[in-house]
Amino acid sequence: MAKVNDNYLKLPGSYLFSTIGKKVNAYAAANPDKKIIRLGIGDVTQPLVPAVISALHGAVDEMADAASFRGYAPDLGYDFLRDAIARCDYQARGCEISADEIFISDGAKCDSGNIQEIFSVDNKIAVCDPVYPVYVDTNVMAGRTGTYDPEKETWSDVIYMPCTAENDFAPMLPEKTPDLIYLCFPNNPTGAMITRSRLQEWVDYANKTGAVIIYDAAYEAYISEADKPHSIYECEGARTCAIELHSFSKNAGFTGVRLGYTVVPKELQVGGVALHGLWARRHGTKYNGAPYIVQRAGEAVYSEAGQAQIKEQIAYYKNNATYILEGLKAAGYSVSGGVNAPYIWLKAPEGMTSWEFFDYLLEKANVVGTPGSGFGPSGETYFRLTAFGSYENTVEAIERIRKL
Ligand code: MLT
Repeated sequence: MAKVNDNYLKLPGSYLFSTIGKKVNAYAAANPDKKIIRLGIGDVTQPLVPAVISALHGAVDEMADAASFRGYAPDLGYDFLRDAIARCDYQARGCEISADEIFISDGAKCDSGNIQEIFSVDNKIAVCDPVYPVYVDTNVMAGRTGTYDPEKETWSDVIYMPCTAENDFAPMLPEKTPDLIYLCFPNNPTGAMITRSRLQEWVDYANKTGAVIIYDAAYEAYISEADKPHSIYECEGARTCAIELHSFSKNAGFTGVRLGYTVVPKELQVGGVALHGLWARRHGTKYNGAPYIVQRAGEAVYSEAGQAQIKEQIAYYKNNATYILEGLKAAGYSVSGGVNAPYIWLKAPEGMTSWEFFDYLLEKANVVGTPGSGFGPSGETYFRLTAFGSYENTVEAIERIRKL
């Protein structure tokens, strides 16, 4: 008789953004006259830049001709894209990463969920609290997290590293030693950025303890401060302890197009086994490569025109972030993030839980955000707004919140 993977049954409720989506859709159906402004899920709103559109058209035309038609993509990605990434995202910044250490995928969400598969189920994971829910939920599915405490909303076998105003929303080294450490900077959800010296401490710690860092750099394009690290490989020793994840969603608007990549350096070994080989085996077995036309679009992001155009688009969202940050400060909210990230993290008014504040904003201002507690216990009483709306909607949302 078939049995289900009962780890799935341990997962509480539905995925955070699905829960929010359902709530908002129900509210919208009951209130068809209201204009709801959605600053909840970090989904982009601006169109793909012209260089990307032109590459997509060009690649589609190639597919219409037998001489240039492409079938299965290489499992690990086309060389034209892997070379462009290695050159522009790493070598140009002085990071020693080669094209064959880059694995192309359909996005950082899948990679951040799948990467745990190459590690033993006995590994102990450490996550920031609050945290992007995919890291924890996928470890629950794998049976790595122990039992759930519904009161505390925590898992018994997970090491939670609180990220609070006291530590500038960057985790301190944990008391218990983890095997896998998930870090995300610029951070989702707090919008905080880690300093180079604190990231170096993590790299040194991982090399000393034999832990592996899974570093999610999906929001790297939003870093404004010159002294902040764009990649963990800017730290000495990271090649022997870190995997890095990247996305084209937030820097180039590919949330609906789907493209990302993961870097696994060849020196990175666990118990004498190279993780590069394991991830290549997993990728080759379970994945047939991102579509050719999408990889050509990704290549266009690194062209001179593409770089100039995405810079402009990122500046548009950063301007929204500044508007939200300053607007909420002026309205008396305690706010952070928004400088090196497209997320603004604010404290809910005194006495309100984050879900109460969610309902309050939805009903009184028709503005959707994300309740901080959805990201972990330290997110309780906090709230996340994204800068990915249109400028007009962002301005209107802040005006409505200020009027409350
Ligand atoms: C978020 O809102 O946290 C992100 O958009 C989710 C994602 O990138 O999967």
